[in-house]
Amino acid sequence: MTVPVLSVRNLEVEFLTRRSTLRAINGVSFDIAKGEVLGVVGESGAGKSVTGLAVIGLIDPPGRIAGGEIYLSGTRIDHLPPEEIRRIRGKRIGMIFQDPLTSLNPLYRIGDQIVETIRTHLNLSETAARKRAIDLLAEVGIPAPEKRIDAYPHEFSGGMRQRVVIALAICAEPELIIADEPTTALDVSVQAQIISLIKRLGRDYGTAVMLVTHDMGVIAETSDRVAVMYSGRIAEIGPVQDVVQNPLHPYAKGLMGAIPTLAGEDKRLVQIPGSMPRLSAIPPGCSFNPRCAFAFDRCRVDRPEPLKHGSHAVACHLFDTAPGEAAKETAA
Ligand SMILES: Nc1ncnc2c1ncn2[C@@H]1O[C@H](COP(=O)(O)OP(=O)(O)OP(=O)(O)O)[C@@H](O)[C@H]1O
Ligand SMILES: [Mg+2]
Repeated sequence: MTVPVLSVRNLEVEFLTRRSTLRAINGVSFDIAKGEVLGVVGESGAGKSVTGLAVIGLIDPPGRIAGGEIYLSGTRIDHLPPEEIRRIRGKRIGMIFQDPLTSLNPLYRIGDQIVETIRTHLNLSETAARKRAIDLLAEVGIPAPEKRIDAYPHEFSGGMRQRVVIALAICAEPELIIADEPTTALDVSVQAQIISLIKRLGRDYGTAVMLVTHDMGVIAETSDRVAVMYSGRIAEIGPVQDVVQNPLHPYAKGLMGAIPTLAGEDKRLVQIPGSMPRLSAIPPGCSFNPRCAFAFDRCRVDRPEPLKHGSHAVACHLFDTAPGEAAKETAA
């Protein structure tokens, strides 16, 4: 078996507050293979961004990785000294955030930023790096790149800026890209273009992509697999078609019910009453149990671990036994 590009094992992330320690990520495990796009969904506060930030070593105090391991192509990267993880960031892991301006320095011409990043990580001359920057800008769909390369970030539209960020993210040929809501700030028409660009990265370069979004349409469009997060855990993970069309976890069912049209099917909108618990008030057992229409006694006591169920892994006691058994227990 080939080694996954990214392997996250039992990740725990904590934030220390004056009063207590809040556990934002509580035992998250997943892999992303070469060329694979893993979509990560879940409602606000589920832990999608914190997971991404942990992978790129950007959890700053008072936050910390409290447990687990993160491997990049087989090498453990979660305990590296800051300068080593900084070298990996940019070179081996590219980042795309919601707001392109967080990644672009407004005082530098975009070409200078790309050339500098290329030269920091790849052994290229100034001329060769500039040539590569122009090629990359062309590749991400910036018109007249040989001219635009000398423009400043403010001279670009939001969509064009995000393309520049993608060029910057891929310029050192990373193995992995973490994209956190890369299209949320963009117009719908531009979103589609950015998404197809991200999708192409996996196909053309074998880049592994972790794509965080709360847009299920985007996930269905781009991802090979999807992880559904809830309260700092993965509720369900599996191939995108299987999870979208046949979600198992009651929370995933609710989320998928909320996609208006997939393959033209008229899915009924499933409402999930209530809201996700605050980190300071996560209930014992399954953190979804207060909102779950299928919860039984065990769900209030025992925290479900993700278990394999067909092509999915699902953290739900309903699926911990043979399907018939589960149905009996639920009915009881
Ligand atoms: N620096 C911080 N200090 C304290 N708590 C934090 C910090 N950053 C994140 N959290 C908490 O960690 C939890 C997960 O946050 P995270 O940003 O990962 O959510 P998310 O899934 O990305 O949500 P959204 O969809 O709104 O972006 C939340 O409860 C959040 O309040
Ligand atoms: Mg987020």
